[in-house]
Amino acid sequence: MELPIRPRRNRRTAAVRGLVRQTRLHIEQFIYPVFMHDDATDQPLASLPGVTRWSPQGLLAEAERAFGMGLRAIVLFPKVPQDRKTPDAREALSPEGLVPRTIRALKKHLPELCVITDVALDPYNSDGHDGLVRNGVILNDETVDVLCQQALMHAQAGADMVAPSDMMDGRVGQIRAALDGVGFTDVGILSYAAKYASALYGPFRGALDSAPKAGDKKTYQMDPANAREAVREALLDQAQGADMLMIKPAGAYLDVIAAVRAATTLPVAAYQVSGEYLMLKAAAQSGWLDEQSAVLECLTGIARAGADVILSYYAPAVATWLAKSSS
Ligand code: PBG
Repeated sequence: MELPIRPRRNRRTAAVRGLVRQTRLHIEQFIYPVFMHDDATDQPLASLPGVTRWSPQGLLAEAERAFGMGLRAIVLFPKVPQDRKTPDAREALSPEGLVPRTIRALKKHLPELCVITDVALDPYNSDGHDGLVRNGVILNDETVDVLCQQALMHAQAGADMVAPSDMMDGRVGQIRAALDGVGFTDVGILSYAAKYASALYGPFRGALDSAPKAGDKKTYQMDPANAREAVREALLDQAQGADMLMIKPAGAYLDVIAAVRAATTLPVAAYQVSGEYLMLKAAAQSGWLDEQSAVLECLTGIARAGADVILSYYAPAVATWLAKSSS
């Protein structure tokens, strides 16, 4: 065959493939999401095999292990006991709560670890919603006031970054102003800019017992059918002072990641959520997929779509896999 142009030449050897590879995962781009509770024992989660809900002590040890593997950022998700949940979610504001205590402990033992907190009311709210509820309606502006106080409390405890995951309108600007108003100008905002009303959060809500008691989250989380709306949300959060913009979930929303990437110069993050983790884990455990190559391929796709930063329960495994492949 007379064929001067043969793309396979660039795929002929590992050396050439390495030269032309456009996307590389590296451990510094990962944020490790961790579950915790105020209980003396570490609880392996049956609904999320390989993931543990840590005791305060266990979490410190896990953070140290993760740091030792090269992970540099962690995001905290607390399980709040039922008797601490109220309609006004007041436990979210307690400076002696599990989250602020954990932030202080982490910053003391691992000062270089970037500690990120989730800003939303669902673990604390007896209604199980991210915002305050009145007569079945999620209140926007009243919720934003509480979120500002929650973010401030996390900053006071030493959080490096706060991550509002609630999807209320206007919360990024209000949180920025609240932080700046008392001098926390260095505390960053990682905004869940485009968070979809996804069925893939199911295992997470099981891990924290945080599912909504009534209704769903569709009046604040986005319709999975919409992509332009994600760009609109992202640009609003950028204008309000977000430091990074997140898309969530990740794998089924690669077009959204790419669209937001094209619309902003801010770093873009993507969250491979609990259901995405579980699909891969379940297939791997039943012997149907090779876990390492399937997971790295999915994560590479997320990075290739435009995510600079990736949140994944697989972060420690990725650290191990990447360390092996470079040795
Ligand atoms: C709640 C929150 C959720 C997740 C992160 N923060 C669940 C929800 O919105 O119901 C989901 C993460 C996951 O599924 O891994 N503010």
